[in-house]
Amino acid sequence: MRTVVSRLIHSRSSLPRLLNGRYLSTDSSKVDEPFKVEEAETVNIPPPPTEKLLVLGGNGFVGSHVCREALDRGLSVASLSRSGRSSLHDPWASNVTWHKGNLLSPESLKDALDGVTSVISCVGGFGSNSYMYKINGTANINAIRAASEQGVKRFVYVSAADFGVVNYLLRGYYEGKRAAETELLTKFPYGGVILRPGFIYGTRSVGSVKLPLGVIGSPLEMLFQHTRPLNQLPLVGPLFTPPVNVTAVANVAVRAATDPVFPPGIVDVYGIQRYNQKSK
Ligand SMILES: NC(=O)c1ccc[n+]([C@@H]2O[C@H](COP(=O)([O-])OP(=O)(O)OC[C@H]3O[C@@H](n4cnc5c(N)ncnc54)[C@H](OP(=O)(O)O)[C@@H]3O)[C@@H](O)[C@H]2O)c1
Repeated sequence: MRTVVSRLIHSRSSLPRLLNGRYLSTDSSKVDEPFKVEEAETVNIPPPPTEKLLVLGGNGFVGSHVCREALDRGLSVASLSRSGRSSLHDPWASNVTWHKGNLLSPESLKDALDGVTSVISCVGGFGSNSYMYKINGTANINAIRAASEQGVKRFVYVSAADFGVVNYLLRGYYEGKRAAETELLTKFPYGGVILRPGFIYGTRSVGSVKLPLGVIGSPLEMLFQHTRPLNQLPLVGPLFTPPVNVTAVANVAVRAATDPVFPPGIVDVYGIQRYNQKSK
């Protein structure tokens, strides 16, 4: 082994070499000049682009927790919703860039998507079946298409778990959710993540009032951990889906939006709990 290395060292001068991108002649008639290390030139390279996150519906219940979590991780955060910042009075809200726009008019998304590397959509809602389809489906499909055209790398959609019989009563809601999910998996096969929580609990701001929904949600989450087998029952099983804390959803959403190795696809409520535990 030593002989081979020694031969290589001694034959070094006869090897073609590239210095500063130029080919140096190895013609034996030319005197081989001593190897000279040139000082690297300093060039003005801009710093690597920082992650810029756009939260759709960042002034809502889940969206505001997502914005907070992302700011805590040092990301640059913007939000888009119809009312902009609206009634959020918390100090962290001043660190978010608030855009007003309606996802049902996708051209209002163009400016907000400028320089954005990842998107988390927390846009959804209830109403008549046709309204629910529009807000959970069409609005999000518009956002997914616009983000894909703009070259966004990762897109996380806060969808919802199936609720068995309830799915039929809220047809527009679930059909909209599933249509948006299909679009996401098509447009973002490597960077699309769908979170499917059941009931989400935590502190919800309604104007200046804070509603502590955790008072009901937290004990229910503990209780439902022991009823997991019931979740497999046909029709009524999904009603036993455990509620999940809004901070867990926000934590996993931000991680899924920024971690390039976070696997694409659907994450159910148990997956949200697992990823949340792992990142503690
Ligand atoms: N809360 C739960 O227990 C729960 C459970 C499972 C799944 N989810 C899902 O999680 C997501 C967030 O729920 P949430 O409870 O946080 O709802 P939320 O508080 O009602 O927030 C919805 C957000 O969407 C924005 N929005 C609605 N229509 C829009 C449009 N056309 N264009 C732009 N923005 C629009 C709203 O802001 P503006 O009104 O200012 O536009 C608001 O910021 C939803 O997709 C929901 O289906 C929630």
